[in-house]
Amino acid sequence: MSRDRSGGNGGRGGLPGGEPLGGAFPGVGDEPGSREPEPGAGESALPAFRAQVPVRLVVNGETWVGDVPASLTLAAFLRERLGLMGTKIGCGEGNCGACSVIVDGELVYSCLVPVAACDGSRVETVEGLARGDRLHPIQEAFIAEDALQCGFCTPGQIMAVKALLDREPHPTREQVVAALSGNLCRCGAYTRIVQAALRAAGALGGAGGGGGVSGAATG
Ligand code: FES
Ligand code: FES
Repeated sequence: MSRDRSGGNGGRGGLPGGEPLGGAFPGVGDEPGSREPEPGAGESALPAFRAQVPVRLVVNGETWVGDVPASLTLAAFLRERLGLMGTKIGCGEGNCGACSVIVDGELVYSCLVPVAACDGSRVETVEGLARGDRLHPIQEAFIAEDALQCGFCTPGQIMAVKALLDREPHPTREQVVAALSGNLCRCGAYTRIVQAALRAAGALGGAGGGGGVSGAATG
């Protein structure tokens, strides 16, 4: 289809076929008052905005069903609706990784994900790792390597390690560093965090399993 660009409109092409605006948009180009309103004129063609949306998701093995605000983030949902405070909100804009959780096997920044987009999904948070008072081997490894100072970044770091080891049970140091590159630590515990990830990989032996240290390290 060719378009005539010589009409003196700054090079912008017209509508396909050179159709005048008045033919594409009723009322445009008509004399004032020369046309009766079309039936339904003034009604939006866009779907109505829904303030609440129904969601069904599984968090740490437990099913949750209910309505949520369309704009509610997964991070806020986990903390405010479910009381799972292990997931931290640092920057709130996808820069720090403190809010990292696993959704359907993928590591995500939960501060950027609307919980409405998780309908039908399986969500894993740091609270889901321990079995009773038995910590997960990744949590044990963080303790053994003293891989935290203030601990604010730790739940996100642990979930990033979990996501890595789930898909790559025997990572190299370089793979660990790459996998954790989206998780910042203001305390600068990076070397110990990488050591903890490698220790956890060794402890899990590629087969998964539980740990044996009492207590909780969910931040
Ligand atoms: S709080 Fe989500 S990336 Fe920082
Ligand atoms: S341990 Fe303090 S931010 Fe990482």
